[in-house]
Amino acid sequence: MRLSGKSWIMAKSGYIFLKNGVLRLISLSWIFSAVFYVFFSRTYRREQIAVVAGIIKHIDDLKKHSSFFLLRRNIHRVEKGLVMPDRRPIFAKEYIGETVDFYKKCVGKCSVEHLPPEIIWSRDVLLTYFDTVESDPLISKAKETFFTLEKENNVARSTPYLRGNQTISVSYDDLQLLVRQRKSVRVFLKKTVPRDLVDKALEIAAMSPSSCNRQPTHYRIFDEPGLCREMAHLPLGTIGFADNISMICAVTGDLSAYFYERDRHSIYIDGCLSAMLFMLALETVGLASCPLNWAEIDKLDRKFENRIGIPKYERAIMFIAIGYSDPKGHVAFSEKKDLSLLRSYNRVENE
Ligand SMILES: Cc1cc2nc3c(=O)[nH]c(=O)nc-3n(C[C@H](O)[C@H](O)[C@H](O)COP(=O)(O)O)c2cc1C
Repeated sequence: MRLSGKSWIMAKSGYIFLKNGVLRLISLSWIFSAVFYVFFSRTYRREQIAVVAGIIKHIDDLKKHSSFFLLRRNIHRVEKGLVMPDRRPIFAKEYIGETVDFYKKCVGKCSVEHLPPEIIWSRDVLLTYFDTVESDPLISKAKETFFTLEKENNVARSTPYLRGNQTISVSYDDLQLLVRQRKSVRVFLKKTVPRDLVDKALEIAAMSPSSCNRQPTHYRIFDEPGLCREMAHLPLGTIGFADNISMICAVTGDLSAYFYERDRHSIYIDGCLSAMLFMLALETVGLASCPLNWAEIDKLDRKFENRIGIPKYERAIMFIAIGYSDPKGHVAFSEKKDLSLLRSYNRVENE
């Protein structure tokens, strides 16, 4: 049954009225809220299952002492200990044993001829750590294990370094030019997007910060025409230009990077920080992009997961359309917030 314009407006007003009433009621108590979201709404279910699946995978990896996430996090903790201004003579004692175990397992997964940079970084940080820290039985045990893996006399290079004075020549104006150049582009040329350019931009995206350097972000890129078209029609916001996209990527986050439910938002924060750098870097290699909303809709999530076969703990954060901007196409002006609305200093609302 199709509603006429007036009936549709009335139905929508009724829905808003009802929703407003129900939400006000459940906001009064967490019990109401729990009852509502357990029995009447599926909104959070998928996220809850994903978070739990991530924690289970994390615990399994912990038991096996095998995961790059665990290694990155622990090496990061050791590095933090090393850069502290008042460094303690003994630190990281509680987790240095497991860190060396993680390192050992991860090294085992790599080809000896081509050790990935993060393994070299881990090795170098551990070399520096054992060279710096004072003696302790637990540390000595870990040190012994570590040095049985050291085949050569390696010199630590990827370790904390003196920052010194800032020497780069990128000016504020240069940066402003770049960020003004980036616009959400929805009119692309029908032209193949070279993977090497995208990879170059991804090398920049990889430099983004992430909580405890865990780096849970992954870029699932689709440029095979059929698959790309399928993916471009998944996000709700591509109506009118989905068929115009010749490369699309899903930015995803891996929840198995975390042990605690409290960290469940980290994948979104880390993913967006990385995506922003990626989009800026695309501009520098002559490509344009449009970030695409990935709404928390059960049916869409299932479609994406089933089609690509990703694990439950890997969640889509956003999609990004990538391509050559058509010079004859328009972009929205999209005025930005005034500085006075964007920020406040020392504002205390309840005084
Ligand atoms: C998380 C996110 C989701 C977005 N989703 C869509 C979308 O689904 N469809 C679309 O056309 N634009 C989408 N955009 C682009 C915004 O509309 C755009 O960033 C905004 O209007 C500002 O314009 P600008 O990017 O050109 O500065 C999205 C942007 C972000 C950051």
